[in-house]
Amino acid sequence: MRLLAVESSCDDTAAAVLEDGAVRSSVVASQDDVHSEYGGVVPELASRSHIRAITPTIARALADAGATLDDIDAVAATFGPGLVGSLLVGLCAAKAIAYARRLPFIGVNHLEGHLLSVQLERRVEFPYVALLVSGGHTSLYLARALGEYELLGSTRDDAAGEAFDKVAKLLGLGYPGGRIIDALAAQGDPAAIRFPRARLKARDGVRRFDFSFSGIKTAVALHVRERGAVAADHPDIAASFQEAAIDMLLERSFAAVDACCAERLVLAGGVSANSRLRARAAEAAAERGLELIIPSLRYCTDNAAMIGIAAHHRLARGERDDLTLNATAIADLTAPRAGAERQ
Ligand code: KG4
Ligand code: ZN
Repeated sequence: MRLLAVESSCDDTAAAVLEDGAVRSSVVASQDDVHSEYGGVVPELASRSHIRAITPTIARALADAGATLDDIDAVAATFGPGLVGSLLVGLCAAKAIAYARRLPFIGVNHLEGHLLSVQLERRVEFPYVALLVSGGHTSLYLARALGEYELLGSTRDDAAGEAFDKVAKLLGLGYPGGRIIDALAAQGDPAAIRFPRARLKARDGVRRFDFSFSGIKTAVALHVRERGAVAADHPDIAASFQEAAIDMLLERSFAAVDACCAERLVLAGGVSANSRLRARAAEAAAERGLELIIPSLRYCTDNAAMIGIAAHHRLARGERDDLTLNATAIADLTAPRAGAERQ
């Protein structure tokens, strides 16, 4: 079965072709240069860019797979969560193809795509604890089986990727900041500045595995305001911020693994592309005899192949959506089908 998958939930227009669950092509058209001067994603500009990019991106994915629409047996697209104006572009394109070609269609929750992105390169046995850490999300899930995800904790305020992006903006380094901080931190001393590690008390609705990244973002801003930061200081600030962020991510991830008696930990989402996070997670996992699985860099950040693998498994179970499926800003992963709105 050949499947065309489309993803447009934020600022990347992506399309992929999968054949029986194997990736035949994966194309991502980045909008980084559209948003870089604003230091973050501008939703209205994102949806306009998606409109321009969607048809050529789908055409490229088909061409790279050596296929045409005649070869496609099913179509999938992200329905949420994300920016509704962005989501609508990919979702409508996919639904239009399914309608015109009378093909089965399925909507995919973006977060399920990230959680299953590890399954693109190898078969990972359930259950696993997954740290989903991106520009929009920082959450820990227990993935029990396909479609069975328990939320263990999530950020109370900013996502970790948002903090990376804000620190980069603060230092005047451009957008998206994660990759820039990652490279700069390699030249700095992670122990140069002791930024606070937030430890939330498990009360007032706060869960043991919840995160908070607003405090560290403010601490970096205060440090820069009080001490100033010339370019020569940037590597130490980047390395110290990054170390604190990673400490918080890993402390809770390993605590969640222990609490669930899990044998594997999965990292997913844009921030899991971070080289220091990958290295420290690998070291800590090895010490504990824990299996750690992190996707290749191209499957950490937003892509349509991960939407395709989630769709592949759901289609194989006989699931379909009708073409009234609507885009939704918030979609609960613990009840993905319930999160899917129909018009
Ligand atoms: O998964 P993703 O592409 O989009 C969302 O669903 O949010 O994640 C994007 C986020 C951005 O905040 C970006 O700065 C961050 O991932 N990111 C990184 C790295 N590469 C991307 N953060 C830290 N280190 C990196 N190497
Ligand atoms: Zn994402």
